[in-house]
Amino acid sequence: MYAFAWIDSVWENDSVLHAYQLSKRYRQITALDRLDLTVARGEIFCLLGANGAGKTTTINLFLGFIKPDSGHASIDGMNVAQHARRTKALLAYIPEQVQLYGGLTGLENLDYFCALAGHVEYNRGDYLEFLDRVGLEQKVADRRLSTYSKGMRQKVGIAIALAKRAKALLLDEPTSGLDPAAASEFGELLGQLRNDGTAVLMATHDLFRAAEIGTHVGIMKHGRLVETVPTSGPGHLDLEKIYLEHMRA
Ligand SMILES: Nc1ncnc2c1ncn2[C@@H]1O[C@H](COP(=O)(O)OP(=O)(O)OP(=O)(O)O)[C@@H](O)[C@H]1O
Ligand SMILES: [Mg+2]
Repeated sequence: MYAFAWIDSVWENDSVLHAYQLSKRYRQITALDRLDLTVARGEIFCLLGANGAGKTTTINLFLGFIKPDSGHASIDGMNVAQHARRTKALLAYIPEQVQLYGGLTGLENLDYFCALAGHVEYNRGDYLEFLDRVGLEQKVADRRLSTYSKGMRQKVGIAIALAKRAKALLLDEPTSGLDPAAASEFGELLGQLRNDGTAVLMATHDLFRAAEIGTHVGIMKHGRLVETVPTSGPGHLDLEKIYLEHMRA
């Protein structure tokens, strides 16, 4: 019994993103219906589901962009609705269209977002190192973001997550519109963050990448998480079959 209590407490400590009975309604529509979800350090949780299933709503609740009607979302044990500023400092976010600041260079964007999160310890050399880690060389780092491709912008997003030492990374359809090589490289970068202990929550329609990159896949339908499956790499899981079975049910 004590052993179980100990395992339980280790698990609790490792949990970074936690949703408890999280619900959101828009007039007649239940966008999210009593979601229970935990993403621990070093886990990549991929949310799948049809358009309108509630994936972006889930991410926006963790970001504090919207407020739940009931239940709560917490990051590192802190309720997002009550500690909006503190929880934001623990997060990095990569939306489908990575905006950042087009008029600033990649390096200046990194500097700006680190400073916002209270990281003032880095110099130019440090920033170049972070950008190098994600595959952006110096001559690119000094170019304006408005000249970057989607894949390059996302790399800046990952560099921000690394430099902020983000406890959690939230991504909304990050691989849509990436060419297969860029999507594969992106998966490898997420793997680096995972090894650093970041908890990753990612909404996607890409079943192949979800099985490849994710440690867990959750299938959402009409605002509910209907199934969660652990993955063990591509080929080991017929995700398409599981997914389509839920969609047809
Ligand atoms: N601001 C809003 N006002 C009204 N309804 C909304 C709002 N935002 C989301 N919804 C509704 O909530 C439901 C869930 O939407 P959500 O954006 O979370 O879906 P999603 O799973 O991200 O879909 P997609 O795959 O198309 O991105 C949908 O029915 C949507 O129309
Ligand atoms: Mg969405």
